Amino acid sequence: MDQPDYADLVAAAFTACDLAYAPYSRFQVGAAALTASGRIFRGGNIENAAYPMTVCAERVALFSAYAAGEREIIALAVVTPTDEVASPCGACRQVLLELAPNCQVILLNKAGRQQRTTPRDLLPHGFGPTQLEEARGR
Ligand code: THU
Repeated sequence: MDQPDYADLVAAAFTACDLAYAPYSRFQVGAAALTASGRIFRGGNIENAAYPMTVCAERVALFSAYAAGEREIIALAVVTPTDEVASPCGACRQVLLELAPNCQVILLNKAGRQQRTTPRDLLPHGFGPTQLEEARGR
């Protein structure tokens, strides 16, 4: 079966890119998360003059969905302003694995060329709740 094209989700990620707050890096990233209930949550990266306080677009979108009570993310589209398709930072991979382990990840360059992947492919051998549960059981 053909995979869905997620056209609305991709369009939302491009909108999120335009709305990003990135005055320091000027590297605007956009993300959009599609939930099982059919809602789309956008997020752009949000920077801060205290640089490490910055939050990436992927986490803004995922946290926004979770803040609205959503728990099942079907797909996450991410747009970077690059010629080559880029892939999420390590921190976002960790968050993605916990908050959206079964989602389809759609990575797009600025022209809309896309590559698809999964949270487990992005972060093999990731740390998760299993490790915490194991330690508690000891
Ligand atoms: N950034 C993201 O929002 N997502 C990524 O996947 C990589 C990096 C942001 C963080 C920072 O605001 C800017 O891009 C430059 O690193």
